[in-house]
Amino acid sequence: MAMNYALVPLLCCISIAVALYPRLLSPRNGNAKASLTNGYSYETFYLVQQVDHFGFNNEDTFKQRYLIASQFWNHHGGPIFFYTGNEGDITWFCNNTGFMWDIAPEFRALLVFAEHRYYGSSIPYGSQTFKDPSKLNYLTSEQALADFAVLIRYLKSSIPGTSDSPVVAFGGSYGGMLSAWMRMKYPGTVIGALAASAPVWDFTGLTPCSAVMNTTTQSYLRASPQCVDNIRQSWSTIDKIAATVDGRNYIYNIFHLCSPLKTTGDVAKFKAWLSSAWFDLAMVNYPYPASFLEPLPAWPVKVACSPLGSPLQDKLLMQGLYKAVNIYFNYTGQAKCLNTSQDATASLGDAGWGYQACTEMVMPSCVDSSSMFEPTTWNFTSYSDSCYSSYKMRPRQHWVTTQYSGKNIGDTSNIIFSNGLLDPWSAGGVLNSLSDSLVAIQIPDGAHHLDLRAADKDDTDYVKAARTQEKNIIRFWLNSQKPLKG
Ligand SMILES: *[C@@H]1O[C@H](CO)[C@@H](O)[C@H](O)[C@H]1NC(C)=O
Ligand SMILES: *[C@@H]1O[C@H](CO)[C@@H](O)[C@H](O)[C@H]1NC(C)=O
Ligand SMILES: *[C@@H]1O[C@H](CO)[C@@H](O)[C@H](O)[C@H]1NC(C)=O
Ligand SMILES: *[C@@H]1O[C@H](CO)[C@@H](O)[C@H](O)[C@H]1NC(C)=O
Ligand SMILES: *[C@@H]1O[C@H](CO)[C@@H](O)[C@H](O)[C@H]1NC(C)=O
Repeated sequence: MAMNYALVPLLCCISIAVALYPRLLSPRNGNAKASLTNGYSYETFYLVQQVDHFGFNNEDTFKQRYLIASQFWNHHGGPIFFYTGNEGDITWFCNNTGFMWDIAPEFRALLVFAEHRYYGSSIPYGSQTFKDPSKLNYLTSEQALADFAVLIRYLKSSIPGTSDSPVVAFGGSYGGMLSAWMRMKYPGTVIGALAASAPVWDFTGLTPCSAVMNTTTQSYLRASPQCVDNIRQSWSTIDKIAATVDGRNYIYNIFHLCSPLKTTGDVAKFKAWLSSAWFDLAMVNYPYPASFLEPLPAWPVKVACSPLGSPLQDKLLMQGLYKAVNIYFNYTGQAKCLNTSQDATASLGDAGWGYQACTEMVMPSCVDSSSMFEPTTWNFTSYSDSCYSSYKMRPRQHWVTTQYSGKNIGDTSNIIFSNGLLDPWSAGGVLNSLSDSLVAIQIPDGAHHLDLRAADKDDTDYVKAARTQEKNIIRFWLNSQKPLKG
């Protein structure tokens, strides 16, 4: 999710890591660049939902979009696999969650992909939605979970053959948090949840603020220690070169930037843009070519690091950085110029996540000196001030841990927490099993929810094993329910 545009200039100067954070989970913009010819076929529906599930004063409604694929389903009580949509267009998540499609035939499951309110086509107040804080007020995870529960109830009452169907929640990233929280909050509605790459513990007081950027650095170290040294060196080198007009022009030309670097603010934004590229590359460091956020080769961190594989200084370092970042933004060779505002693109989805990050979803981020990123501290007060200036709202840093129990979740059951250890967000995930039925699965060479993606010929043994274990656990949950008919 790109950060809300208005927030970027503010946050980039306080903390690059903060500026990066919220755009990490979602598509660079609402229009998928992926050319997917996967042939997944589904029907699109809309359900009229209350805008406010938790009070009775507001009778406004909106239409929630959801997708259904029934071609694999056993009409006599076959299970429902329910994707708890996250911060973006649900068709994009549907297209990128091949695992559900891959396993639907053997489970004879009905696939449902539910869109998260305020994203994609499920926008409560149309064009007014993002202009008025009172209209954004209902953009919360609690309301989204309630939408899912109401939708499941509706499906079970309206689709013949579903009334006894067990429902399993699936989700990745923020959607993975939602699937875990769905099981915790609505245990009578979903029998279990696969929460893939869900940083459920990346909240205040649960995980050190430096952990995510530390993990990112570890991920790069595995690809190339020299690359890490060069990137660590680059921030002060950029400052040194960018101190003069000639130097700023040099960077502008070498990087083929769309606009010149005029001010120190432009230089800070340039550095934030580079950081976010390194971060995003780690998230999508998949073993085969993919177009999740941008079209990329297999193992893109290694590819981007190859021009940074020997000790470089000054202008040679700038040239190496350009080649590396060009892998991320211009792998197809189509880019006319590199746009340091690209991450800040405020598509509808982006605006939604910026708001969520500024209300409930406060995930503290900082960079310590062991990281390859520029050191920053976490300052909740200044974060809150930036949020206030963007949304006239202030974040509540302890709400998520209060609402969803922080680390005290041992009493819940039937959740799989899977994490790829190359993924920066794994730092905020549940990496060790908490009980027999709260099972952690680590994928040592996996990036951001690799296991949820479609099977690929270049999949590693670790991800194959993770998927097998996930299927076995889901089958165990289903078999513990009443036996299927038909
Ligand atoms: C999802 O895939 C379908 C075809 O498989 C395509 O028509 C649609 O545009 C894709 N949606 C996104 C957001 O990628
Ligand atoms: C970050 O990594 C360094 C070592 O690389 C370690 O000393 C430090 O404690 C780590 N910090 C966190 C929060 O994990
Ligand atoms: C993108 O790649 C193409 C092909 O390598 C190159 O000609 C073009 O200059 C690159 N664009 C940018 C902005 O660097
Ligand atoms: C750079 O991106 C911003 C934000 O998406 C956009 O408004 C601007 O037109 C882009 N500039 C160029 C030259 O493409
Ligand atoms: C945190 O930010 C606030 C507001 O910008 C500032 O007044 C305060 O000094 C900062 N605290 C630290 C420890 O830097």
